[in-house]
Amino acid sequence: MTKLLPAFIALLFTFGGQALAQSTTVIVNADQGELTIDEHIYGQFSEHLGRGIYEGIWVGPDSEIPNQEGYRTDVLNALKELKIPNIRWPGGCFADEYNWRDGIGPRADRPKRINSHWGGVVEDNSFGTHEFLRLAELIGAEPYISANVGSGTPAEMNKWIEYMTYDGDSELANLRRENGRDEPWKIKFFGIGNESWGCGGTMTADFYANQYRLFQTFAKNYSDNRLFKIASGSNDIEYEWTETLMREAVQEMDAISLHYYTIPGQGWDNKGPSTDFGEEMYYRGIKAGLLLDEFITRHKTVMDRYDPEKKVVLALDEWGIWTNPLEGTNPGFLEQQNTIRDALIASLSLDIMNSHADRVKLANIAQTVNVLQAMVLTEGSNMLLTPTYHVFNMYKVHHNATLLPVYANIKRYTTEWDKPVVSRFDLKLDEPGIPVISHTVSKDEDGKIHLTVSNLHPNDTQEVTFEIRGATVNKILQGSAKLLTGNSVDAINTFDNPEQVQPEAFRNAELKNGKLTLKIPKHSLVVISLE
Ligand code: AHR
Repeated sequence: MTKLLPAFIALLFTFGGQALAQSTTVIVNADQGELTIDEHIYGQFSEHLGRGIYEGIWVGPDSEIPNQEGYRTDVLNALKELKIPNIRWPGGCFADEYNWRDGIGPRADRPKRINSHWGGVVEDNSFGTHEFLRLAELIGAEPYISANVGSGTPAEMNKWIEYMTYDGDSELANLRRENGRDEPWKIKFFGIGNESWGCGGTMTADFYANQYRLFQTFAKNYSDNRLFKIASGSNDIEYEWTETLMREAVQEMDAISLHYYTIPGQGWDNKGPSTDFGEEMYYRGIKAGLLLDEFITRHKTVMDRYDPEKKVVLALDEWGIWTNPLEGTNPGFLEQQNTIRDALIASLSLDIMNSHADRVKLANIAQTVNVLQAMVLTEGSNMLLTPTYHVFNMYKVHHNATLLPVYANIKRYTTEWDKPVVSRFDLKLDEPGIPVISHTVSKDEDGKIHLTVSNLHPNDTQEVTFEIRGATVNKILQGSAKLLTGNSVDAINTFDNPEQVQPEAFRNAELKNGKLTLKIPKHSLVVISLE
């Protein structure tokens, strides 16, 4: 009997082959929401980098790959489904070498340049301003243009804005018309430089603050267009940069950016593999993802000193997991696979951004297609949806909904790999363990309550009860309960098996007397709506 006892106890705590962890209760204050989750947190980023645009989005009208006006039909349809609110272009580092005049006019006449940042490949400029702005129109996203400050001039930038947005009779507006576009475009999001502390010019904060003031002066509002100006902000731990920019230019900016890349491996030189990594790299990846909360919190503290009314937005205009490039690919193309771990890094990062909805109102995951934490991967005429794609699809319920405040005492779990994780600038996160769940709860304008809940534990099921206070909920919205999971923490979709990781109906949900109880399997995400 004594020998059988441990097995008996193990059986008692087993649920569907998984250990059943202790339960968590989350109190939801449904009548106390004050902040809106801005849909622009769910933005995308497409740079002239590797196969991100060429092959991934743009194949040209003569391609054998089915396309609409030169854009891959499969990718267009996939992107439309995500209801992407904004898309950032042309970089990234590429932006600070880009001359917009190279990318207009007949494609055959456009100059060939070298993409010196990304693999040294020839850039034929067949995808330029018109192609990008048409892409944004086709997928229903607002364009976010990133202007060249590092190697460009205020005059070049100013002329680009005039070309795109002026509705009168000027040489540049007429050139736009000659090139096939009568109506001016509406451009709202306008970035002034990118990573100006690094690839965008290796500037000091003081120098960039002056450059920002200069360039933004010539970022003019033509006709009825109104620019929302985004200053190039810091990289994860660089609080001094934010401090200087806020002090010197707070009156001249609408937003300041912040970039944070999650690195699961040893550091910048060995970021860790994107496939077949097992539980240690899962743990380290999730833990590194959590650093985002610390960065946002501390940048916000700096911003609050100069802008207590919170007029200036903190724009996470590059974020996501960055791993080693896939073997056999050009290292300058930043190609990586996308696992259930990466999906959970996306969900917890979005939860963190949602929870900072008072300041974070714009964000762009890096990047949309074939680069870093992509939504879709392509190979010839094939396309697959990544686990991260499904997260963005499941989180659509939160677009422009009211963030509901919650109270929860969430347990943490720890492992033998619980060493401090490193960020790009070597910050160490010392808090032991990671929380077992992450979530966002929101209420839309019809009063429906939407929940996204991630079980971050690699081995244990989590039972989570949401106690809804301040609203009456009668039922689970039919068809709303979905689960995203995989056989292992490094489960992926491949071109041979593209639907291994995809949302399925979720049945382990019970709503009784205003309490919703979910039994969420290990390493998975659930979305569910109540009315
Ligand atoms: O997203 C890839 C690169 O990461 C961007 O070009 C740059 O801004 C950042 O360092």
